[in-house]
Amino acid sequence: MSEVLKVESLKMYYRMGQTYVKAVDDVSFEVQKGKCLGLAGESGSGKTSIATTIMRILPKNGQIISGSIYLDGQDVMKLSDEEFRKIRWVKVAMVPQASMNAFDPVFTIGDQIMEAIQTHKNVTKDEAMSRVKELFQLVGIDPSRINNYPHEFSGGMKQRAAIAMALANNPDVIILDEPTTALDVIVQAQVLSLLRNLKQKLNISMILITHDLSIIADICDSVAVIYGGKVVEYGDIYKIYKNPKHPYTQGLLGAFPNIKAKKQKLIGIPGAPPNLANPPSGCRFHPRCPYAFDRCKVEEPKLKEVEPGHFVACHLYDKGD
Ligand SMILES: Nc1ncnc2c1ncn2[C@@H]1O[C@H](COP(=O)(O)OP(=O)(O)OP(=O)(O)O)[C@@H](O)[C@H]1O
Ligand code: SF4
Ligand SMILES: [Mg+2]
Repeated sequence: MSEVLKVESLKMYYRMGQTYVKAVDDVSFEVQKGKCLGLAGESGSGKTSIATTIMRILPKNGQIISGSIYLDGQDVMKLSDEEFRKIRWVKVAMVPQASMNAFDPVFTIGDQIMEAIQTHKNVTKDEAMSRVKELFQLVGIDPSRINNYPHEFSGGMKQRAAIAMALANNPDVIILDEPTTALDVIVQAQVLSLLRNLKQKLNISMILITHDLSIIADICDSVAVIYGGKVVEYGDIYKIYKNPKHPYTQGLLGAFPNIKAKKQKLIGIPGAPPNLANPPSGCRFHPRCPYAFDRCKVEEPKLKEVEPGHFVACHLYDKGD
């Protein structure tokens, strides 16, 4: 199977005065053609930072430290900003977090998507307009709404339009950052069903970012669980959802054991995510982990394969080799 996107040992830090916020710290994963990878983790774990690093749309203080990003086998880290600009939105596109609220209120949605097309392709206005209508149809918006302004669209329609915009130039990979978070449950289900259809119809590769592992289980083929800027569990979604190995993944799935309670009781993850400007030593999860032992405080666990296609970074599964 061929991977469309491969990320290897990626590090991206934010400069904050004299210190660095280690938001993406040695992250590796890959996405196969026509498959969906989920990125899961609590708020502040580094999910958006991974996406904006891949897209090279970092704020001024964001600095790629090291690592490789391959798109269709090409190491795009070697490309200059000018060269990368030609493939951004064309080979890899993104639906940013809260993008449905990012449409400019003074222009029609159709005009804004047309502009996205004309920026990258030498097409006439009529050709761009017929592409927008085609995209509207693809995402389930009536093409007659092409001249509507953002305030005339519901939240769900705006999210569909944001997805249409990302699909405008037929990218190989689309990154969706929390595409359903601001929506009510019914609209959320409709957007998820749209994503499932698009994946099948277009055979497009996707990265779906969400804090909700059940959404990932619903749509994705694989998952990378992110904690404190690192991948703590990675692999086949069926295996991980059925049998989460990392205590953090167990916590995200609401299956965190309260080992202090007399009776077996499941609880949420206690404590707060780490400060990435000064992360805990050893395993970054150790201050919150009920299983932590001495080694966890001093030695960082490496991602190791615990069964075919299932990787975990936790000393509980590390036999010391
Ligand atoms: N521009 C920035 N400057 C400094 N630190 C930043 C900046 N943007 C994000 N961070 C920090 O980087 C870390 C990762 O943030 P990021 O937005 O990637 O997390 P996230 O997993 O997407 O969270 P959420 O679920 O809330 O969207 C956090 O500690 C955050 O405070
Ligand atoms: S390495 Fe230690 S602290 Fe980290 S998750 Fe595993 S048991 Fe918990
Ligand atoms: Mg985010």
